[in-house]
Amino acid sequence: MKDELIPHRPDPLQLPESAGKVHMKSDYHEAAISLADGNPLLISDRYSTGLSVLAKLKKLISRGKQARTFGMSRKQRAHYKKASNLLLAPVENHQIALYKSPESGWLEKLYPDLDQFYLSFPQLQGLNSSWQWYQKGIQYPGLDTKIHPWYGVYFPTRFDHLSLFNEWLSEYEGAKEIGADIGTGCGVLGFLLAGNGFQKVFASDLNPNAVISVRESAGRLGYDSVLEPLVSDFFKGHTQKADLILFNPPWLPALHSLSHLDRAIYYEKGFFETFFRQAEPFLKKEGRLVVLFSNMAERQGLSSAHPVRDELLTGNRFKKISELRKPVASKSEKTKRRDHRGDEVVELWELALI
Ligand SMILES: C[S@@+](CC[C@H](N)C(=O)[O-])C[C@H]1O[C@@H](n2cnc3c(N)ncnc32)[C@H](O)[C@@H]1O
Repeated sequence: MKDELIPHRPDPLQLPESAGKVHMKSDYHEAAISLADGNPLLISDRYSTGLSVLAKLKKLISRGKQARTFGMSRKQRAHYKKASNLLLAPVENHQIALYKSPESGWLEKLYPDLDQFYLSFPQLQGLNSSWQWYQKGIQYPGLDTKIHPWYGVYFPTRFDHLSLFNEWLSEYEGAKEIGADIGTGCGVLGFLLAGNGFQKVFASDLNPNAVISVRESAGRLGYDSVLEPLVSDFFKGHTQKADLILFNPPWLPALHSLSHLDRAIYYEKGFFETFFRQAEPFLKKEGRLVVLFSNMAERQGLSSAHPVRDELLTGNRFKKISELRKPVASKSEKTKRRDHRGDEVVELWELALI
């Protein structure tokens, strides 16, 4: 019997007594000033009022100018995040109780216990957009069937690292008895292992929503008896040594304290040391440890350290078998000229026990 998992959800809010009201006849600029000053506001008529107020708030905080430095843009984003979350909307009977609101099935799935509460407008927007992804699903290279990620679960929207892994997997000649997909997210890598003949795949994630999502997808994809998703810190709860351990970790060092969703993107000090230490006893003698990484942190000036290279230099546990690199494709010629990601690469590190 599988244990019942309680998913993360945005905390339901109560309406603060001090909250004012905003509607289509309000002065949106005044409303934006009020939010920026730290005062909560309740949207009282239609969904589009929320969109208009947030558009004004964004303009107000940026003062119509683009941030010139990284620090400035971070400060603006933090201010916007704080102020925009003071804009509240009512939820009643699992629907956004505003005229012409989009459907969000998450309100029913995540709040079966609540009939009436409030959420911030940006939280509702997050739920709405996640619901669209969930309903539509995403087709990944190497998988026949779409994946439908749950709310609050990391799922890749760029596929370069998946293509790199597929290339590597097509050449893999090792045993396929047991695989481990650590930090499984929406499960895409675990499903690639299952689809490539692995008999059992242990899939761990700290985030219960990821495990719920992978369980649901495993049923849909017919891998119920192959995938073993578990809420777990790296290998906790796992008992067997693996032929292949696969890890697509967060790629950026954390500069702030982390929420559960942040843990897909940012890693804290000691994260990789713990991972490699715990991976060692779970790898079979002839097994392979594959880590996907990128030079994103280096390129953003956030870190010149490289956790895999550091491990190889100082860990005394693993040796490098191969290293593959792939330039990140720009989405279009237009974006290529506009962004500075020209030399962004994704990396695949294949390691074995010393
Ligand atoms: C970059 S995402 C990768 C998700 C997925 N494997 C993929 O390739 O799309 C990293 C994942 O690791 C999970 N994670 C972070 N720290 C973890 C830990 N200590 N143990 C297990 N999972 C963790 C995050 O919740 C997130 O789902």
